[in-house]
Amino acid sequence: MNALYSIFIVTLVVLTGIIIFLIMQNLILKEQLEKQEKILFSAQNLSRKMYELGDKKEFFKETWKILKYITNADEFTYFRFDGVNMLVPEYVEGVYKNEILKMRLKLGEGFSGKIALERSPSILNNANKSSISIHVPGTPDEDSALLGLPVIFGNELYGVILLTKLGGAQFTNGELKIAEVFVNISSAFIAGLVHTSTIRKGLIDTLKALVTAVELKDTYTAGHSVRVSKIAETLAKNMGLPFREVLRCRIGGLLHDIGKIGIKEEILKNGEPLTPELQEEVRKHPELGYHLLKKTKILEDVAETILYHHEWYNGKGYPRGLKDGEIPISARIVHIGDAIDAMTSGRLHSPRKTVDEALEELKKFSGIQFDPKVVEVAITSKEEIGRALLEKTEDVVIEDNNLLPGSLKGSEQFK
Ligand SMILES: [Fe+2]
Ligand SMILES: [Fe+2]
Repeated sequence: MNALYSIFIVTLVVLTGIIIFLIMQNLILKEQLEKQEKILFSAQNLSRKMYELGDKKEFFKETWKILKYITNADEFTYFRFDGVNMLVPEYVEGVYKNEILKMRLKLGEGFSGKIALERSPSILNNANKSSISIHVPGTPDEDSALLGLPVIFGNELYGVILLTKLGGAQFTNGELKIAEVFVNISSAFIAGLVHTSTIRKGLIDTLKALVTAVELKDTYTAGHSVRVSKIAETLAKNMGLPFREVLRCRIGGLLHDIGKIGIKEEILKNGEPLTPELQEEVRKHPELGYHLLKKTKILEDVAETILYHHEWYNGKGYPRGLKDGEIPISARIVHIGDAIDAMTSGRLHSPRKTVDEALEELKKFSGIQFDPKVVEVAITSKEEIGRALLEKTEDVVIEDNNLLPGSLKGSEQFK
């Protein structure tokens, strides 16, 4: 009886042990599944967000958020490869951000340089004891672990993503594998970004040359488009508009009168007040510019800004007679930038106005010609407008480095 009882107890203990083990396994599995599900969801989210995010910084911020979740790393650095021999930190997160930003690494130098040279992902735990890693000047000599991933696309090296754990924590091979999947997504995106930026920049440079040609044909003072671009960008920023709208204002401002390339110089330079027929001719320039930009594809999202830059808030403008919220916000802003520069430069038959006088004029026509919300912002941005008006053509570079492919796509309704 006693023996039977003992067997019963042992079986019970073993069975309970097995059940507890299974429950634990199940819980671990569930946790792992949940984590994997979250990772997959984040990956999906990131690829969708790539086209919604405003700029490169936001993209790295999102990537870092996910990599931090996967690996529990403390620091993130994206080293951009200059295409020749150097790695330059472009985006850094973590306590030693300022120190890391000052670093420059040659190909093959330090752990990140080695990752770039060998083009394969790797882990270096206890990095402070290794001869491979380089101590970041100005940071304490503490225990750290490194995880490096090359950013490669189509056989081309774009940079290195470096993750760091501080205080003795280590990276695992599992973390390396999942991080690699993410960096592969990022690689394709970073490559697209670099290429689109180069193409877009080339196109903008070409169009800038055309703008200069237009200004020579016109009665405008040289640099009109550059100043309109700067004012429109300032107003868009001060209105708190998203990055893509700010960009649309900047490029739209620069190219707003590009359609004048198709208008005869005799008409544009005509010293006399224009006859209604000739006025009609000049009024074709928004349409001409619109079709020109539409054909470029890569800048087609700015085409509407150009088409509508002479529309009035009350619907009395041209070419379509759209009113208030029907006019894209970028066109309403460029319209005001155009007016400010026209008034302060002085045109035929009208004396040059000061910035204060120009703003008074905006107030007078607020709700008639001009969007009252943009006028309000223009009034509070008086000093910045004054500085923008001093802008010289050669000072303005359309910095496109932070532009994402597709970041001009999509729009919000700003009524
Ligand atoms: Fe115009
Ligand atoms: Fe203009």
